[in-house]
Amino acid sequence: MIFTVAIDGPAAAGKGTISRAVAERFGFRYLDTGLLYRAVGVKGGDPVAAAQTLTAEDLARGDLRSLAAGQAASRVAAIPEVRAALVDFQRRFARAEGGAVLDGRDIGTVICPEAEVKLYVTASPEVRAHRRWLEVGGEEAKVLAEVQERDARDMGRADAPLKAAEDAAVIDTSDMAIEAAIDHACRIITARLAP
Ligand code: CDP
Repeated sequence: MIFTVAIDGPAAAGKGTISRAVAERFGFRYLDTGLLYRAVGVKGGDPVAAAQTLTAEDLARGDLRSLAAGQAASRVAAIPEVRAALVDFQRRFARAEGGAVLDGRDIGTVICPEAEVKLYVTASPEVRAHRRWLEVGGEEAKVLAEVQERDARDMGRADAPLKAAEDAAVIDTSDMAIEAAIDHACRIITARLAP
């Protein structure tokens, strides 16, 4: 069976938590595509060369979740040659035998427009920043500024900007517990698996 769940949305919307839970519930493989851009961003040197030669070691670095890595990721993610270098790997992952969940910004729009399920997970900037602040600490206002700056860059870039696919189901988690969001996502997937 080939079955792709594409989960897109802005920074810290809960995509990772929902993706991991969904992958576990259905026994699907999971790819956090943001990690690819974070690894390219922190690698240094020419970002295009970094994207073309990304290794498993680069993806295992301990500093990929930092705010600085997020900023570096969104800068290199605006470079078309960087995105192009990462397309094949993501497409192969999405369409290999067995189900796959991918989360990112352009999975339902560019990487896998044929995905069987497309979700767009979002929440207000304040709620997202608060959740990210609980993870990373520091000054909450600074985390909010970081989230807003990154969203603006991700939505405004010319190549594969962040936006919901026309046929995506939108899940706004601003006033929703994460368990409810997971249940909602699972119901949509179950309905598509066995119509
Ligand atoms: O975890 P969070 O939502 O904060 O970010 P992430 O998913 O790890 O993505 C980090 C950055 O990588 C984003 O701000 C985007 O600029 C970029 N990205 C992208 O352009 N396309 C993707 N499919 C995934 C991430």
